[in-house]
Amino acid sequence: MNNLIKDIDIISPEDTQSTDYKTTTSENTGQAKKLYIESYGCAMNFADSEIVASIMKKNGFDTTSDVTEADAIFVNTCSIREKAELTVRKRLTEFNKLKKAKPGLSIGILGCMAERLKEKLLEEEKVVDLVVGPDAYRDLPNLINIAEDGQKAVNTFLSREETYADIAPVRLNSNGVSAFISIMRGCDNMCSFCVVPFTRGRERSRDPYSIVAEAQDLFNKGYREVTLLGQNVDSFKWSAEENNKARLNKIDADTTEVINFAKLLEMVARVSPHLRVRFSTSHPKDITDDVLFTIKKYDNICKYIHLPVQSGNSRVLDLMNRTYDREWYLERVSKIREILGEDCGISSDMITGFCSETEQEHQDTLSLMDLVKFDFSYMFYYSERPGTLAAKKYEDDVTLEIKKRRLSEVINKQSVLSFERNKRDVGTEQLIIVEGFSKKSENDYKGRSSANKVVIVPKGNYMKGDYLKVRITDCTPATLFGEVIAINPAS
Ligand code: SAH
Ligand code: SF4
Ligand code: F3S
Repeated sequence: MNNLIKDIDIISPEDTQSTDYKTTTSENTGQAKKLYIESYGCAMNFADSEIVASIMKKNGFDTTSDVTEADAIFVNTCSIREKAELTVRKRLTEFNKLKKAKPGLSIGILGCMAERLKEKLLEEEKVVDLVVGPDAYRDLPNLINIAEDGQKAVNTFLSREETYADIAPVRLNSNGVSAFISIMRGCDNMCSFCVVPFTRGRERSRDPYSIVAEAQDLFNKGYREVTLLGQNVDSFKWSAEENNKARLNKIDADTTEVINFAKLLEMVARVSPHLRVRFSTSHPKDITDDVLFTIKKYDNICKYIHLPVQSGNSRVLDLMNRTYDREWYLERVSKIREILGEDCGISSDMITGFCSETEQEHQDTLSLMDLVKFDFSYMFYYSERPGTLAAKKYEDDVTLEIKKRRLSEVINKQSVLSFERNKRDVGTEQLIIVEGFSKKSENDYKGRSSANKVVIVPKGNYMKGDYLKVRITDCTPATLFGEVIAINPAS
């Protein structure tokens, strides 16, 4: 959806693994100092920047969108592909110029690159004062003091418990309608291509009652949509006893009660029928029928599943250590269609040119795409990451030229399928929530359908946060266009 082609690596500002960056909006509460944060990578990183802003606000910093007035610049980084890291390094050369003009300026590298490279970053990038991993943000006030005293500060400790459950995020870049809620951190899967288990540490689930409280608070503030975030939301698992955490609010719970993802979805859906619930990312090996039935049961849980397949070939999936094969994936898709129907949106991530992938195996990815008919996909060519299982065990032997050619074939296939899926929607009625102006015109609003497709409607007299019942009149491969039939319909 809304994909932009950049150097044939497909990204979207709203996606869960974009290497595009977002900066902060300014918030002036009269604090003495200013913080500028730039965030790269997935939605979890954007959600983390909101935790960071909250911690810094309590310690004397307002956020600013003007980098030149900043007393501290934080770059919340991503390591998922080499290009993501190169972009940050390039950006640091620009910050270097600013620092020359303002020697008191502190520059911090946060997030996945900080965790991956640790102290080495200080040697490689002289401009950097702080290196702070994703589980060490509570230590930021201390670290920034060290940096302000002219010393280098590093904390890349990974925790087995930290979920920042008690920290109310400062919403950055918010449209005031939709917000992310982190429900877990880390990842216990070991997909052989992936750096995330190394940069984010062990998987841990957040206290579900704090998640519900955050959703309720957002709803009270006028938000109408939340997206529950985790690398593998289906393995969400929490019990008061096991997690041994102090209760964060006064709700009494049976201490032996185990809350899985299906239960959590239900708890959040019950906050209000007018609060839409989305989630990302689902793992094909873990998504249960129980979750699918919960999605079906609640109108306000969106009928959309991001279910990355990565490859359509079972041998490649095995090398990737995805722990499912082509047949398993197709069975899960049939189950989604059986329980949630043909209209349920399904999207994917795809990697082309993984180690030893043959032409025939690449064709299997294309044929799987045809079978599933993904509504959209995030598509990448394989980028070897140091320290991963694949880097240790397999040769990165598909040439860049072939990786890129296969990627463009996957992109072209997806574009045809997206158009086909969008054309099915023409003539149907869809419920959207107004999120703001369309990117192209202030005469139009944009919202998203339950299946997560961008829908453009004439602006009319509607307001952000309004539910609109829309008839779809036209489409492109990336966007639906509609006319409004009703405003804030009862259901
Ligand atoms: N937890 C999610 C994915 C998180 S990373 C899941 O399991 O699906 C987001 C996406 O980046 C992955 O789905 C994969 O398609 C892509 N990706 C991860 N590592 C990559 C690498 N080394 N090279 C290219 N793409 C990669
Ligand atoms: Fe990476 Fe696999 Fe974990 Fe996703 S599930 S974050 S791809 S290791
Ligand atoms: Fe996300 Fe990138 Fe880290 S995708 S978890 S910010 S490596």
